[in-house]
Amino acid sequence: MTAFYLSKPYDPPQAPQNLLLDRPWALLGGASPQQFMKSHWHKKPLLVRGAIPAFELSKQVGEPLDSAISAEELFKIASDDAVESRLIKAKPWGFADGPFKKKSIPSLESPDWTLLLQGMEARHPAAAKILSWFRFIPDARLDDLMISIAGPGGGVGPHFDSYDVFLIQMSGRRRWRISEQKDLTLNPHLPLKILQDFKVEQEWVLEPGDMLYLPPHIAHDGVALDPGCQTWSVGFRAQSYKEILQEGLWRLAESLEGILELEKRFADPKQKATNQAEQLPEEMIKQLEQKLKSLKLDRVETFLPGIAAYLSEPKPQTYFDGSKNNLSPEEFQRQIAKHVLEPHPQTRLLALGEKIYCNGEDVTTGQSSPIQIAWCSLAANRQFKGGLGRFQADNSLFEAFEAGWLVF
Ligand code: SIN
Ligand code: CO
Repeated sequence: MTAFYLSKPYDPPQAPQNLLLDRPWALLGGASPQQFMKSHWHKKPLLVRGAIPAFELSKQVGEPLDSAISAEELFKIASDDAVESRLIKAKPWGFADGPFKKKSIPSLESPDWTLLLQGMEARHPAAAKILSWFRFIPDARLDDLMISIAGPGGGVGPHFDSYDVFLIQMSGRRRWRISEQKDLTLNPHLPLKILQDFKVEQEWVLEPGDMLYLPPHIAHDGVALDPGCQTWSVGFRAQSYKEILQEGLWRLAESLEGILELEKRFADPKQKATNQAEQLPEEMIKQLEQKLKSLKLDRVETFLPGIAAYLSEPKPQTYFDGSKNNLSPEEFQRQIAKHVLEPHPQTRLLALGEKIYCNGEDVTTGQSSPIQIAWCSLAANRQFKGGLGRFQADNSLFEAFEAGWLVF
């Protein structure tokens, strides 16, 4: 235990902007990102011993590393009502939603509890840096970084997730058991999503610096072995096709608002006399088909802006505080020439060709070219350096800064 408290916090590096996709990475067990995506992503689990080599190296020189975020700091974060948190107890299973006062969280040594904190990339730069390691996977697929801290025996029980996840061991040890079983029936009598019949196929004890990648629907159960065990989960998302299409469709429907041509009323001077009056007229169907074609509503490209806007929406509970960003447009212009502008860690940016979507909005259409260039850099590199040249106050970059979506 003494060594545990004397450990130095790990300081994760920011990934370089151009990730080398064909070189072996320790993080991926010596596979290149290309190889990993081909052989494991969304297909099969991967256990990586020493995924973060710094942990093993530091242990060898007698200076063991601990998590970048201490238990104390995590408990403070758990008391913030802007953070999505859950406290789960085993034996018997039970759970509560946060926020949690420090005294309602069990001590690190007490058994069978775990605290889960979502969206940690917005709470600590170390968590944001770890997310940067995974940018060989499209941003559109990323969800967030969750941290679990637990007492011995703590865990969320045997379950499966619908998403891909990288489980990085950051402090203490955790025993993982997994199974590729087909039967994913949940126990109907428990308050948590726990498998009725978990048939362990593989088992490992992960040490700090080790990582386990799991594709969706792999049954798994992680149990903390040490007080203050921390696992950092980089989680991905995959909406149903229904959700993606519905979200795209209603945005597309809204975009029809501005088309004057569509305000015209239906006219059918060519309608013939009919003795099937109950049928929807052929003439109407023909005209609608032509309209859909002329507006390219039968083409996927027409749906993509709505879908990109939807996928760039921040997580529902995200709260941006623009109150600290109260610069005048002139001051903003001066600052941007001197400092690096970055998206807030919970700002989502996606690109569709040269169009950029930020937190659900198209931020480049109709903007001047320096503003468009700044947005392209923010989306691609998650930062922008350099001046803006001629500058109009009512531009999307300044507005996003005022809203707290972008920060210096
Ligand atoms: C954990 O970190 O304790 C649970 C993560 C998971 O199994 O999804
Ligand atoms: Co899980």
